[in-house]
Amino acid sequence: MKKIIIANWKLNPSTVQKAVGLARAVERGVKKNRKVDIVIAPPSLYMRDVGKTLRRARLGAQNLFWEDSGAFTGEISASMIMSLGGEYVIVGHSERRAYFHETDADINGKVRHALTKGLHVVLCVGERDRGKENFLQVVKHQMLADLKKIPQRYSKKIIIAYEPIWAIGTGNVVSPHDLYEMALYIRRILLDVFGKRVAHATKILYGGSVSSKNAASFLEVDGVSGLLVGGASLDPKEFIGIVKSAQK
Ligand code: PGA
Repeated sequence: MKKIIIANWKLNPSTVQKAVGLARAVERGVKKNRKVDIVIAPPSLYMRDVGKTLRRARLGAQNLFWEDSGAFTGEISASMIMSLGGEYVIVGHSERRAYFHETDADINGKVRHALTKGLHVVLCVGERDRGKENFLQVVKHQMLADLKKIPQRYSKKIIIAYEPIWAIGTGNVVSPHDLYEMALYIRRILLDVFGKRVAHATKILYGGSVSSKNAASFLEVDGVSGLLVGGASLDPKEFIGIVKSAQK
């Protein structure tokens, strides 16, 4: 399966000039490679300018709303993202769930809106604390609720990013063995929801403290097709190193 490396810049950098500089540095450092898709998800305000600098990488958004237009102050829609050249959108990131109180019903609405408009959806799932909760149940519950009533014809554009919250921005990472088990488990849920063909074709990514040093260890795990990178995507050298791990 083709690999995919996604940069989630979150609320960074502080100016559009810096964002364009960062995108240029990444573009200079990565070679064209048919084996790997690269996606950059800057803050939505920067999408137009960053998008213009991208040649090898594709453009993504970090969030969207579930309606396409109307009286929804401050929101952005799938059509708006696509009109700037965006092809991907991250939905259900744990920071959206925690700080903006997004519920699974909200996330389901966003997933549906994005898919019906034609975006690729990167749906983030993951437990808060492996020791304190039934983490398999948490992931299953999120997936079943977030993917509720998605017509099968749209399911080809779904990507699942397993991002355990305890690993995000902490320097802690999941072990290859635990990641292998989780990827199997996620595929099993996809099988129940969408059937065999979709379950086998869906990309499952890992995210949480990915760096150029540890990227290869996740990409070697059977069933894992890529990475969602936060902090390390703000350092061009680091991010280019991660992309190179996937291109090997
Ligand atoms: P991190 O973030 O790489 O900084 O841990 C990952 C994410 O939140 O997508």
